[in-house]
Amino acid sequence: MNIAVLASGSGSNFEAIAKAVKTNYIKACLKVLITDNEKAFVRVRAKRFGIKDIFVNPKHFSSRVSFDKHIAKILKNEKINLVVLAGYMRVLSPYFVRQFQHQIMNIHPALLPAFKGTGAIERAYRYGCKITGVTVHFVDEKVDHGPIIVQGHVVRGEGMRLEELEKRVHKLEHILYPLAIKLYVERKLKIKGRNVKII
Ligand code: GAR
Repeated sequence: MNIAVLASGSGSNFEAIAKAVKTNYIKACLKVLITDNEKAFVRVRAKRFGIKDIFVNPKHFSSRVSFDKHIAKILKNEKINLVVLAGYMRVLSPYFVRQFQHQIMNIHPALLPAFKGTGAIERAYRYGCKITGVTVHFVDEKVDHGPIIVQGHVVRGEGMRLEELEKRVHKLEHILYPLAIKLYVERKLKIKGRNVKII
């Protein structure tokens, strides 16, 4: 099975996934990193792992769909079976989602459906949540919405600072994302409507 990661930022999740592939926890090939941000640190991480990285400049495309069509073409050429969004800060077009039905995963740093969108950890913190967490889900045409694969919670201790909560959420992400991908690669996920059964 061939995996592609799409990312825009630091890439700590990319690194956790690359390590999981390298150690054979995930038995698949991490073929390519695609990014929309030329300066993203995730590119440095990809180079360290010897994984091909492709920067696609959104400014060279007149619309979201034309950009996504180009990405989809790259993914088809690379014979990608699973598209992993890891801090990819672009909303996918319905066209793209239809090309890879139930083959796109996303990670979100909150317990969906709470705190959709950006800045989720800080928003949960400021809201005063005593429990927040991480969600890995399949991607559908709505943002942070598709069927949930795994979730994990993080308890916000008395007097915990935002930085500490962020650290704990990220640590959990780095466990849950490789786990969800491993389950997919081993064909242990069965999707029925909104429910994802782990078999
Ligand atoms: C992660 O916390 C991920 O959950 C979040 O971006 C961060 C990327 O970190 N994604 C979203 O908020 C998507 N709605 P990373 O670049 O270090 O993997």
